Amino acid sequence: MIGKAFAAALGLGIVASVALADDERISFPADYSTKFYNYLSLDRVQNEDQIIRLFANDAAIEAANEGKELPYGSVIVGEVYKAKKDKDGNVIESSLGRRVRDKLAAIAVMEKGQGWGAALPEDLRNGDWDFAIFSPEGERLNKDLNACRSCHAPMTKTQHLFSSGHLVK
Ligand code: HEC
Repeated sequence: MIGKAFAAALGLGIVASVALADDERISFPADYSTKFYNYLSLDRVQNEDQIIRLFANDAAIEAANEGKELPYGSVIVGEVYKAKKDKDGNVIESSLGRRVRDKLAAIAVMEKGQGWGAALPEDLRNGDWDFAIFSPEGERLNKDLNACRSCHAPMTKTQHLFSSGHLVK
């Protein structure tokens, strides 16, 4: 009995993962806050009430330091924070003229995997990079990843990264 139930569960799991393979192939990089390098933190350039802290894994940092194209297995994480607001709902500025971090809202991830871009149309293709977004607890959020893909896709000269010029250690 147990064997049968297990086999059935396994079967379901396989069906689900095949159907959703494209949007679930990136898993949550649970160790990013201790293992990755925080190469940049900034007020988000296209979102007026957010702040982002950017982290990259060793594979990405090492290649960037050597001026090489980032290899398969490169992972970039963006911790997206809400900016603190005053009681009227306006974003507060520090004496440096910068936003101040409030709650962590989401964790955005880009990862590069061999062949990952192959099935995507050109306007959604980011080389072999793909996208995922998670809650602060690491649960996958149900967002339209084509929005991510289409905004990053035109960045062909910088490996589809906006922040590649900062990727040094
Ligand atoms: C409208 C354009 C736009 C969309 C849509 C978008 N991004 Fe970005 N992304 C940016 C910009 C601009 C940056 C540079 C840092 C910043 O200002 O947030 C960035 C930075 C990043 C980075 C850090 C690496 C880099 O490119 O600098 C990751 C990871 C990332 N985005 C993931 C995502 C994910 C996941 C989604 C979808 C859920 C997404 N992005 C949707 C514009 C976009």
